[in-house]
Amino acid sequence: MWKGRFSQDTSSLVQQFGESISTDWRLYAHDIAGSIAHARAQKIAGLLTEEEFLSIENGLLAIREEITAGTFEFRSSLEDIHMNIEAELTRRIGPAGAKLHTARSRNDQVATDTRLFCREAADLLDRAIRLLQQALLERADRYAATILPGYTHLQRGQPVTVGHHFLAYIEMLERDRGRVRDCRARLNICPLGSGALAGSTINLDREAIARELGFDGITHNSMDAIADRDYIAEMLFAMSLCGVHLSRLSEDLILWCTAEFSFATLADAHTTGSSLMPQKKNPDVCELSRGKTGRLVGNLINLLVALKGLPLTYNRDLQEDKPPLFDSFDTLSMILAVNSEMVAALEMNVPSCARAAADPMLLATDLADYLVKKGVPFRHAHELVGKAVAAALSSGTALDQLDLAAIDPAFAADAKDVFSLERAMAARTNTGSPSPLNVQNEISRWQKMLEN
Ligand code: ARG
Repeated sequence: MWKGRFSQDTSSLVQQFGESISTDWRLYAHDIAGSIAHARAQKIAGLLTEEEFLSIENGLLAIREEITAGTFEFRSSLEDIHMNIEAELTRRIGPAGAKLHTARSRNDQVATDTRLFCREAADLLDRAIRLLQQALLERADRYAATILPGYTHLQRGQPVTVGHHFLAYIEMLERDRGRVRDCRARLNICPLGSGALAGSTINLDREAIARELGFDGITHNSMDAIADRDYIAEMLFAMSLCGVHLSRLSEDLILWCTAEFSFATLADAHTTGSSLMPQKKNPDVCELSRGKTGRLVGNLINLLVALKGLPLTYNRDLQEDKPPLFDSFDTLSMILAVNSEMVAALEMNVPSCARAAADPMLLATDLADYLVKKGVPFRHAHELVGKAVAAALSSGTALDQLDLAAIDPAFAADAKDVFSLERAMAARTNTGSPSPLNVQNEISRWQKMLEN
């Protein structure tokens, strides 16, 4: 493509080192869409005849079909997807193909293709995240009223419900979808026309090209347009954080499925056995989701580090943007799909949850609240209940079996009523708290929001 200036062929080791076709072939449909829009603008500008445009368009569509069918032969000597397509087009249709690159550079081409890829990825992720939210919501609904201990510091804290717990993840995932949507809105602008870095003396209708490609607008600085990859970094961050959320879900499920917790059981289809220990049922999907999240975070760091020292504008380092982007998209898509399936089939062990939730210590805070309602300042109430807890522990008596009045006369006979879990849950009525009514309302709200 640059043979005019060179008297030597590229070393084959350099070709091997520099090729990106093994990765960026995935951009072919976007690259071809961009080329057709570009060619149409060339035709309107009088640079191509109608026949030349049609032979370019038909040639590109034929190449697209062959790539989709897997019959197209890529050549790593042609480095990347842009040159593979253009060279083959020119081979097939002759001089018209050689006109296509007028007023264009691979620099604005690759920036366009990756934006189109990110846009499509954003739409697919939005849907995949919603499917997982729906699976979680269905489980939240099924176990809306199943009470279990909520934890801080991985120590039993206060009672919550399984419904409330799953709704927490639905909230996180909704923000993940919002972040992906935000990226999409920011990235959906067209760099074509930026050329190598300084536009072109041949001015095509950039707005028309952008419209044809479904962009919301065009970039306004040719140097920025081809040099920055912030939109990929944003996508990588949004995907990392979604992975981090699911890694935490994984950790919850791993704990819940231990004999020690035994709050939940994963379906056989979503677990693995041990080749040595016949009794084992391992939560590999959760562990892999947690483990693969390391890759998502690594991919983000990978790109940020690649960008940080680059002078404007294009530097070949930027070719390294695509492996992390594709890997994070593939990895997160898989995590979302497999978790949707696994969560949908997850069963809670209701009696185990009930046994753990029956620990009266979970209501120690409620007991302090009881004193507050009798007029005791909270700090003093906290201390009195602390004494009761200490007495329970040292005497081996359950907190709800203690003679509380002996600790302080502020505890009246009705103090025992505090230990009704049902009452305790029903009393948590503020928005965001897990009263059964609130959880039901939240479930209905989400059912409406997650409708297609
Ligand atoms: N393969 C290159 C990439 O992915 C395409 C752009 C090449 N531009 C250049 N001036 N060498 O970044």
